[in-house]
Amino acid sequence: MDLGIRGRHALVFGGSRGLGRATALALGHDGVEVTIAARNPQTLALAARELSEETGARVAAVVADITTEAGRAAALGACPRPDILVNNADGPAPGDFRDWDRDTWVRTLDSVMLAPIMMMRAVVDGMIERRFGRIVNISSRTVKSPQPELGLSNGARSGLIGFVAGLARQTVRHNVTINNILPGVFDTDAQRNHIRGIVQMTGRSYEELWEERARATPAGRYGEAGEFGAYCAFLCSAHAGYITGQNLLIDAGAYPGTY
Ligand SMILES: NC(=O)c1ccc[n+]([C@@H]2O[C@H](COP(=O)([O-])OP(=O)(O)OC[C@H]3O[C@@H](n4cnc5c(N)ncnc54)[C@H](OP(=O)(O)O)[C@@H]3O)[C@@H](O)[C@H]2O)c1
Repeated sequence: MDLGIRGRHALVFGGSRGLGRATALALGHDGVEVTIAARNPQTLALAARELSEETGARVAAVVADITTEAGRAAALGACPRPDILVNNADGPAPGDFRDWDRDTWVRTLDSVMLAPIMMMRAVVDGMIERRFGRIVNISSRTVKSPQPELGLSNGARSGLIGFVAGLARQTVRHNVTINNILPGVFDTDAQRNHIRGIVQMTGRSYEELWEERARATPAGRYGEAGEFGAYCAFLCSAHAGYITGQNLLIDAGAYPGTY
């Protein structure tokens, strides 16, 4: 399927690894000019080279931390008029809420709520003027299905979801859509880090936890980043102009509700 976005400009945060990289790959395959942003310059440069070789698309890289004003400005300097914006950063670590002080909460809110809101604020009016925009926030299933050890994610990510619910209904008439994707368990570095955190909290073995999480999904396996990338790229496509303000699970049916 041709996504109808050849030649469009995309800014993908976290485009050097995992779900963001897979999204950049899918967009690149469709002829989108992609700028990937992340903090580690080595991983980023390698990813940009590989993505460009694999897709033939023009892939630029910018070292930028989405949680800082300077990082967001650098990203926009490299991609000043994005048609497509994918907001994404590290998720909060697991733990016990008794250990999280105010600074921890503020840092988390900065990362998973305020940074994406600041990015939307910076780009949405340009998208409206150009009558095309696709914004996707990579969130988490935790906003629909709270995970006991992920209180920071359960709580702080929900602020973004609430904000997007209102904004998305104001921009769609200008062909600017905003959606949140809620991944279940995917085989990425973040998943492995998360399990390492649970190992520390429980003393259980990494291998046992890894297998257990895969078995707990109806598919009996982790999602592959490529499956996420294709889904996200569709939401960024010309065909997705009537999908907005949605919180879209990609979790192999792990969420237990009928609706
Ligand atoms: N994988 C899962 O199963 C899963 C499930 C639910 C939710 N999620 C959420 O989905 C998001 C992406 O997860 P993932 O699995 O793709 O993680 P990942 O494989 O660890 O990749 C994270 C990417 O984001 C970049 N990044 C991290 N913090 C950043 C920041 N502050 N500014 C700019 N770039 C940043 C990383 O590069 P640098 O480190 O070099 O910056 C890397 O490119 C996370 O919020 C995660 O919590 C993932």
